[in-house]
Amino acid sequence: MHKLHRERLQSLFNEPTNDVVYLSGASVTHRYGTDFEYPFRQESNFLYLTGVQEPDFALVLVPSTGAYHLLAPRRDAMYAVWMGFVRTPEQLKQAYAPDHMHFTDELGDLLASLKPAAVHVIHDHDAARIRELGYTPDQSILTDALAWCRVIKSEGEKSELRKAARTASLAHREVMKSIRPGMNECELQAIHEFTCTRSGMRHQPYSGIFASGVGAAVLHYVENNRFIGEDDLFLMDAGAESNGYAADFTRTFPARGTFSDRQAAIYDIGLTMLESCLAEARPGVAMEDLHLKAARLLLEGFLNLGLIRGEVDELMEANIFALFFPHGLGHFLGLDTHDVGGYPKGVERIDRPGLRYLRARRVLEPGMVITIEPGIYFIPALLEPAFENPEQARFLNVESLRSYLDFGGIRIEDNLIITDDGHENLTDVPKSRADIEAWMR
Ligand code: GLY
Ligand code: MN
Ligand code: MN
Repeated sequence: MHKLHRERLQSLFNEPTNDVVYLSGASVTHRYGTDFEYPFRQESNFLYLTGVQEPDFALVLVPSTGAYHLLAPRRDAMYAVWMGFVRTPEQLKQAYAPDHMHFTDELGDLLASLKPAAVHVIHDHDAARIRELGYTPDQSILTDALAWCRVIKSEGEKSELRKAARTASLAHREVMKSIRPGMNECELQAIHEFTCTRSGMRHQPYSGIFASGVGAAVLHYVENNRFIGEDDLFLMDAGAESNGYAADFTRTFPARGTFSDRQAAIYDIGLTMLESCLAEARPGVAMEDLHLKAARLLLEGFLNLGLIRGEVDELMEANIFALFFPHGLGHFLGLDTHDVGGYPKGVERIDRPGLRYLRARRVLEPGMVITIEPGIYFIPALLEPAFENPEQARFLNVESLRSYLDFGGIRIEDNLIITDDGHENLTDVPKSRADIEAWMR
């Protein structure tokens, strides 16, 4: 898989060139000047090109010959005493299959033998190192080139994403079965992380959101420490990570196992937003069009409930949807949860409430992996000012909406691989009300 990824990157250098690529991997970081280490996570581009999941490595790629040089840190006996097993260069060569193996302190010698005109780098610290050694770093293309490579997933990547999704599905199902009013949100987080860890997935791709009641109206709520009320909805946005590849799922379900009529009405609008976007998720469709479709469905649902008034077109024009759905419909997913490539050069963000935060403004192509995650929230910080703003208040049934200020919110999020004629949905967690209630029973 990583060899294919390197070939994909090197194929972009199609002119005769003696430029090379230099990229260092991540090092261990410590908590505020202490000797306490944060869990190590490899830099995503480095992981994409090498599969190396240990600290302090670097690579040099030579596009003109296709050569792959892997540089390993030189470890002494004290490292073996305190930190971990030290492998010989031969063992590392066996494990990672580079064409040539070096130590990182041999970078100068390696570059002297390659005599590159320019060295393509991403990070400032890599540029500084190259300059120190007397060569010219070029930071203008490698970031975009790697984003271009990473947007279309290889078969190996799809298989990792499926593994992450299987585990995240299992973990979501466990939490749905376990929740009871009176539990603390952190207990559900523990069940989620226990399920992932015992499946061998020891890292989470992002800080999970385990939000009951009003906490669900905070888009990236991570306090996860509230006691869950009898009548609360519970919004869980949590994934799993398989060899660096993320799952990113959200489900919203009632703590006591059955939706109230009020919860059901809002939930079903969210589910319609999701299902309608899923029905259209295929090559050729633009992410922003899906977002606008979801926004219209929210407005239609709210008109039916009498929460807003007016015509859908004028409500769209006035961006009323963004009061209740203030984030983007979805994003690319891969080695990063908010994966690279959402805005290639020349594509700008749409300066409009709600759409402004869309993380991928792309036309879908086979091999892209995306989330679709419509949400409906009653966020006092957005609604209270809107109630006082005549331009917005004229569309709002202020009296009814006030009674929803303690509702929280809902979000439902699936992960999709775009295929030649549609998509493969990786998320296997109940999402219709009937299926959720049956599973919880
Ligand atoms: N969990 C972050 C997101 O859904 O985008
Ligand atoms: Mn999410
Ligand atoms: Mn997401």
